Amino acid sequence: MEVTEYRGAPGHEQVLVGEDPACGYVGIVAVHSTALGPAVGGTRLWSYPTRQAAVDDALRLSRAMTLKCAVAGLPLGGGKSVIVANTPAFRRDDALRAHGRLIERLGGRYVAGEDVGTTPDDMERIREETVHVGGLAAGAGDPSPYTAQGVVRAMQATAAQLWGSDDLAGRRVAIQGCGSVGGHLARLLAAAGAELVVADVDDARARRVADACGARVMAPEEVLTSDVDIVSPCALGGALDEETVARLRARAVVGAANEQLRGESVAERLHERGIVYVPDFVANAGGVISGAQDLCGWTPGEVREGVERISDTVRAILAAAAAEERSPHHVALALAEERLRRAARPGTSPGPERQTTSME
Ligand code: NAI
Repeated sequence: MEVTEYRGAPGHEQVLVGEDPACGYVGIVAVHSTALGPAVGGTRLWSYPTRQAAVDDALRLSRAMTLKCAVAGLPLGGGKSVIVANTPAFRRDDALRAHGRLIERLGGRYVAGEDVGTTPDDMERIREETVHVGGLAAGAGDPSPYTAQGVVRAMQATAAQLWGSDDLAGRRVAIQGCGSVGGHLARLLAAAGAELVVADVDDARARRVADACGARVMAPEEVLTSDVDIVSPCALGGALDEETVARLRARAVVGAANEQLRGESVAERLHERGIVYVPDFVANAGGVISGAQDLCGWTPGEVREGVERISDTVRAILAAAAAEERSPHHVALALAEERLRRAARPGTSPGPERQTTSME
């Protein structure tokens, strides 16, 4: 396998590009930061229009993982890896093993896991070449119920800030995307008494979730701008651009999708319109917190407490944003950066939540 160091990302600690023409493997591992601990982040297997698009995806997503772990108070850093699925000679199992060899070169500075396009079985193939992989079938299991639970806690904290009560009964919530997280979220919100509208490009999936939760199905292109209290993007990234934000009718955006905003300026537009946006990397941390079971030796109880703490984190961010008249997005970024700065200063601890990990 040929491995090259990508030098076009000065904000990242290390980015490796691996190629093995024999099995059509092109993979990228991006380590954004190990200031707080080993860089964690899933392995995305996806078809990209260009190699640069794959690199850009890895760079963007690995930075988001750093922010997510820092705000969640985890002793973990941010990384991400991608495998390009649309090379002419692509052989999946061999490409996954090649990816394992690329990860192994980093000696534990990056730990892979499941992501869009990969499964626990795929993690087993990577595991044949490196121990630095989570998300195995025998591990902590599917993170999406934890992610959904964390989003509910974030919604409750938002409701408390906006309406003086964290009770979601009677609140109207629109969910975009009825996949793993969206499906769990719909069930939790229905149990809490929320009124739901749901949408998915896969109409049958939307109907299944709607039937199970007493929700109304809406067209995917209308759901974000529907007349509700909270919208919850739980599909792919980039759901909110300036034009969509101008048409939003909800008072808050609280969802699971990674990279919901198409550019930082969208956070400002939301703030100007008085719409509370809970940053994705804060609201969707439940999944990576559940991974702390495998990665940091946390007990199931510690994981549950970690997910519950998302509520306190969101309350603190929204309170600071209101007091300082800044967007929650910028307050959360500053919080993450402060924790990273403290970790980088010798003799200081990154925060009270820091735990010991066997992988440090
Ligand atoms: P999934 O693949 O199970 O579900 C996504 C759903 O969105 C699918 O049903 C798909 O048909 C639908 N969809 C795609 N484009 C759509 C559109 N334009 N309108 C409506 N529906 C659309 O993915 P999963 O695991 O539920 O994740 C959802 C989002 O949350 C992703 O962005 C993921 O990166 C993010 N996330 C997931 C975590 C997890 O624990 N699974 C953890 C943190 C973030």
